[in-house]
Amino acid sequence: MGDTSADPGRLLAQMTLPEKVGQLTMITGEWAQTGPKAMPVSVDAIRAGAAGSILNLWSPDAVRAAQRAAVEGSRLGIPLLVGFDVVHGHRTIFPVPLAEAAAFDPDLWQRTAAAAASEAAADGIGLTFAPMLDVARDPRWGRICEGPGESPVLAARWAAAKVRGFQGAALADPARIAATAKHLGAYGAVAAGRDYASADPSPRDLAEVHLPAFAAAVQAGVAAIMPAFNDIAGQPATAHTDLLQGWLRGGQGFGGVVISDYNAIAELVVHGVAADLAEAAALALRAGVDIDMMGGAYQAGLVPALARGLVTMDQIDAAVLRVLALKQRLGLFADPFRGLGADAPPAGVRFRALAREAAGKAMVLLKNEGAVLPLTCSGGPIAVIGPLADAAEEMLGAWSGAGRAEDCVTFRAGLAAGFPDRALRYAEGAGIESGTAAMIAAAVATAQGADTVLLCAGEARAMSGEASCRGAPVLPEPQLDLARALIASGRPVVLILCSGRPLILPDWLVAGCAAILAAWFPGAEAGHALADVLSGARAPTGRLPVTWPAAIGQIPIHHALRRSGRPASADHYTSKYLDIPVEPLFPFGHGLSYASPQIEALRAEPATVDVPGQITLRFELVNPASQHVETTVLVYRQDPVASIARPVLELCGFVRVQAAPGERVPVSLTFGTDVAAFPGADLAPRVETGRIDFLLGTRAVEAELARVSVHLRGGLPHILPQAEQAGPVQG
Ligand code: BGC
Repeated sequence: MGDTSADPGRLLAQMTLPEKVGQLTMITGEWAQTGPKAMPVSVDAIRAGAAGSILNLWSPDAVRAAQRAAVEGSRLGIPLLVGFDVVHGHRTIFPVPLAEAAAFDPDLWQRTAAAAASEAAADGIGLTFAPMLDVARDPRWGRICEGPGESPVLAARWAAAKVRGFQGAALADPARIAATAKHLGAYGAVAAGRDYASADPSPRDLAEVHLPAFAAAVQAGVAAIMPAFNDIAGQPATAHTDLLQGWLRGGQGFGGVVISDYNAIAELVVHGVAADLAEAAALALRAGVDIDMMGGAYQAGLVPALARGLVTMDQIDAAVLRVLALKQRLGLFADPFRGLGADAPPAGVRFRALAREAAGKAMVLLKNEGAVLPLTCSGGPIAVIGPLADAAEEMLGAWSGAGRAEDCVTFRAGLAAGFPDRALRYAEGAGIESGTAAMIAAAVATAQGADTVLLCAGEARAMSGEASCRGAPVLPEPQLDLARALIASGRPVVLILCSGRPLILPDWLVAGCAAILAAWFPGAEAGHALADVLSGARAPTGRLPVTWPAAIGQIPIHHALRRSGRPASADHYTSKYLDIPVEPLFPFGHGLSYASPQIEALRAEPATVDVPGQITLRFELVNPASQHVETTVLVYRQDPVASIARPVLELCGFVRVQAAPGERVPVSLTFGTDVAAFPGADLAPRVETGRIDFLLGTRAVEAELARVSVHLRGGLPHILPQAEQAGPVQG
């Protein structure tokens, strides 16, 4: 065994150039059906000091063997950094991130990340490639399911909660793991929702929409950042010096590790900004990328890049030091087998109650006509129909870590447990993308005589996620045929929709279903959570973190669109379509429940505030119902006159409130006056003097929200007298 000193500087002084390059190289373990194991070639690379980190390798035995190769078999004995995509759970699978975002519950987000970290750490993992913070406004993009949706404010809260959950107070805690905020930046803005395509956000979009969540992650102490695959206006993020060295390291003060996406450095050649791997390696290193994930570009390219004078040894050393510092923070030098000790918790699904809570809170009740829901505990038969009704593996969604299909409670199984006094009848009715008339006929026969038909329809998990973009994100035709037949049967149909994105639903389907519940991909406790929500044991509280378009032609659509000079109206020359509505099917923030608490006595204190200062919004949440309610109140801001045209509504905060039957709960929320800030014409943040309105309620529909105005004093003006106007004067 070599020197396992925890002093990165001393270690660096002993390293050869190939060993340095090794510390900057991440290789992959082999993923097999029965479980992962290190490839023989990887073990050789580890012993040779040619690989400082590894991904896609987990389980105590596999990680122990790989770590042993590193600490006992390599010259310097530097432990490996073991990374994995622990995205929404490790062994216990929670709902996909877009779904969990719908809970609007940062405390929950943090708890699920902490739970995932503890399971992952006990499997030998030290680093997750999460949270994914890509603000996404295009449901064609398959990866919309991996992030928190369309709002930069929601994404920033998500970022902080997830980083705290994964990392805890100290990375040395063997039950926590390092987090990687990904994919910087504007990956969610890839053109036409096509994965890996170019993104061309305006500098304003970048500043206002795509970067705030990464800034929040850095503030929360995130250990690592992963640049995106895409180029931003021609500069691939992996080689984007202004973004990585300038904005991230310089502007945000990020001192952690930057890890490339899978093969992304080598792909700089394919992007057409590097002639060979030496140039690709040089561009990435100079931009600030420390670890090359699986591309071999640093292995093949860094030495020639040094020889050609494209990089310096100082640049290589700085990257190596950052990698060693992360290993040190994780406590790997002190204990390369961290998390794998005798006191490690037992393997298996350890967080069922939390998974059930998260899945229940993630479900969004989109429609509930005639209060068909909740279902009563006793009564006639319930027909459970559809290709997602008994589909354990599909419940996992994309990126299922070490999750297993056999650990998932299907809708059918969960409903049987949740409604023991009602007869459940089941028919598949259709496959996800295939079907026959006979299957439909059998399903209609099953529906006959049932009190309620639960139609469990949607996407396969493989239809959502990386490289799973859909030009037409709709329900596949065989399922539409099934739905048509069930609606025609005359029984009340409740559509339970599984998907990783909003799906475009035809009018007849929305009109024909008595209720619609977005269940997303709910994870291991899918069925129990569904039964909770349908029975009212957990009344639905989810709210859409993403606007649900009415038609594909509306995409991209989101709640924070700027005003037009000609807002849509009955007039011809206004901002609308001839052939589709301008309004979404379900706006951002939409989500029904079984009781409707009211906001009353809304006021702002003080009504006039000096900048900088604080604004407190106070209101009472009144629960007129005879049951306990839990609800999320969303707070939007509206800036009626500003130097830059502002969105009609922008989410700026949210709060979860509980109220007992008949209770009036006083609620207050305090904001700094920077809640009114926006990037000015020069993109510097500014707060302007004048009125700002706060609109409180649920969905982003101006007329439905409670409004209160605040006057800001002492901010910047939105217009200057001509004499003070900088720049050339025409005339
Ligand atoms: C994805 C990343 C992921 C990495 C490692 C890439 O294809 O874009 O999000 O972390 O693979 O699995």
